[in-house]
Amino acid sequence: MAKVERLSDRAEELLKEVNRDKIPRHIAIIMDGNGRWAKKRYLRRVSGHRKGLEAVRQAVRAAKRLDKVRFLTLYAFSIENWKRPPNEVSAIMTLLEDYLCKEEREMLDNDIRLRYIGRIEDLPESTRAELLRVAKSTEHCESMMLTLALSYSGRAEIVDAVRKVVAETIEGKDHSMIDEECFSSKLYTDFMPEPELLIRTSGEMRISNFMLWQIAYTELFIHPVLWPDFKDYHLIEAVIDYQKRERRFGGIEQVE
Ligand code: FPP
Repeated sequence: MAKVERLSDRAEELLKEVNRDKIPRHIAIIMDGNGRWAKKRYLRRVSGHRKGLEAVRQAVRAAKRLDKVRFLTLYAFSIENWKRPPNEVSAIMTLLEDYLCKEEREMLDNDIRLRYIGRIEDLPESTRAELLRVAKSTEHCESMMLTLALSYSGRAEIVDAVRKVVAETIEGKDHSMIDEECFSSKLYTDFMPEPELLIRTSGEMRISNFMLWQIAYTELFIHPVLWPDFKDYHLIEAVIDYQKRERRFGGIEQVE
């Protein structure tokens, strides 16, 4: 039986405003602003990433407390991030390993399953091993799925899916079998529904190559807070804002 974690007083207060019948099943987050957070404090960029881990814990706990959030996907490292200086890349990988090692117990206690999307074969051996180890040890957990996007980019994912479709399509075969559903099943995200809500921090109005296919009708919530300052109540605020929106999916009637 998973424990119920108490959130900050502000988050607990906000939880009372949440409509339990309209909670997004899948929340995705573009965690942005670690570098700027550090720069503002005359610290090295890695300090921002380290502080960002605390924000990851806050987001996971808040999503878990919402109960009906079954999928939380975090954009942790893009394919483009490999272009950063080697010492920053290596610090992020070490932080990731530390996070996995330290949080494994919390994931198990809270019935959270860890998964990943992206070209994880590009990760350093020790990082990949830790990722696979915790994914395996939490495999039986089913209350919530925490997915880390690592060495991920939306375009690379689409290209990889096209390769799978082409490999499976025999010449001369009826290509009408390739529809949106079939294509979606070839994406890295075949085990999760599309996100209803995408949160981005640091105020940037960009998608930055994240889940390009999956966010076609996702509601966006851009918050000015820099990721290391992200707290549990920010996630609850985003959900309350999402609940006020009318989702039409290109139609004219309210679908939900
Ligand atoms: C974006 O901030 C953040 C990243 C590219 C890395 C995020 C990684 C972590 C917090 C560590 C591991 C994550 C998990 C999920 C355990 P930025 O550096 O692009 O900030 P800037 O735009 O201000 O420079």
